[in-house]
Amino acid sequence: MKKFKGLTFLVILMIFALVAAGCNNGGDSSVDVGIVLPTKDEPRWVQDEQRFKDALADSDYSTEILFSQGSSAKEKENVEALLNKGIKVLIITPHDGAAAAAAVEAAKKEGVTVIAYDRLITDTDAVDYYVTFDSLAVGAAQAQYLVDNADGSDVPLYLYAGAASDNNAFLFFEGAWKVLQPKIADGTFKIANSSEAEALKDSADLSRDQLGKIIGQITTNWDANDAKNKAQTHLTAAADDLKGDVSILAPNDGTARSIADVFASDNAITNYFVTGQDAEKASIQYIIDEQQSMTVFKDVRTLVKDAMGMAVEVLDGNTPETTGSYDNGEVEVKAKQTDVIVVDKENVKAELIDSKYYEASEFTGLE
Ligand code: BGC
Repeated sequence: MKKFKGLTFLVILMIFALVAAGCNNGGDSSVDVGIVLPTKDEPRWVQDEQRFKDALADSDYSTEILFSQGSSAKEKENVEALLNKGIKVLIITPHDGAAAAAAVEAAKKEGVTVIAYDRLITDTDAVDYYVTFDSLAVGAAQAQYLVDNADGSDVPLYLYAGAASDNNAFLFFEGAWKVLQPKIADGTFKIANSSEAEALKDSADLSRDQLGKIIGQITTNWDANDAKNKAQTHLTAAADDLKGDVSILAPNDGTARSIADVFASDNAITNYFVTGQDAEKASIQYIIDEQQSMTVFKDVRTLVKDAMGMAVEVLDGNTPETTGSYDNGEVEVKAKQTDVIVVDKENVKAELIDSKYYEASEFTGLE
């Protein structure tokens, strides 16, 4: 009898242990929300990682952040590793929007809710939500800055774009083109470096294919070195009438800095306006030093809050709120969108320091 009691106690203890392990979401092997970011090689995404960590410091749910290092294969491995840890929600910024379909389809099969973060995943129905900035507005703001600062007519306009594998590159360029095209048509600008854009300069609305043709020619692949090489090639080929005071549409801060360096070192360039986006620290310093003209500030704190807010709603069994939708080529993906802010030397302190995004001590020469 005594022996039997001891055995029962042991069995009950084991059952308790098993149940406790099952409930322990914060345990070593179990993760609630998996986050996959595209690369550590760009400050933009390291910034997102840090903002996620800040936001998650006192969350009840467990999370894990993995980087894909610019490889769709690594990205798929990351998703699989997270699925093995039992994630319920996947927040993912694809390296390549179309190639990521396979990874998110694998997640969907496991009943995981998929949230595309900043970049849309295309041509699949396996994306549940999309949290994003207003990417058309990013491009429009960059273009408007160039228009507002263009003096006279026939200002040489150098065009650069993001990676063709990133749906955002299309949105940024589309937004920019809508603003630039009328100003090319009225003679304010002349296109300096793209025969494809030149061939389409009378069309205000470009199809995806037409956008693809231009982007294919002027892409930086989101790579600072590619951007630098392209800018060097363009300036080497440019005749004198394409130098002097020029305008440059650069798609983001990383590429803007390297393009700006190339233009700054050409003696025949007397002045340049160059755009950017992301409010990377190095570009804020460039703006203070008048080496880059502007950036489009996308407050990553808001995007992180929206993405985690959505994830928590899903985990709590609720339906997240959305404000619109994006067509990903296969389905309309429900989306939550955030506005962007133009930052130049005039308002850099008000927008980035006073809002506590950065600290004044991180920069030199800030008045
Ligand atoms: C993001 C930008 C970023 C770029 C390169 C885009 O999808 O929206 O913020 O600069 O990718 O990583």
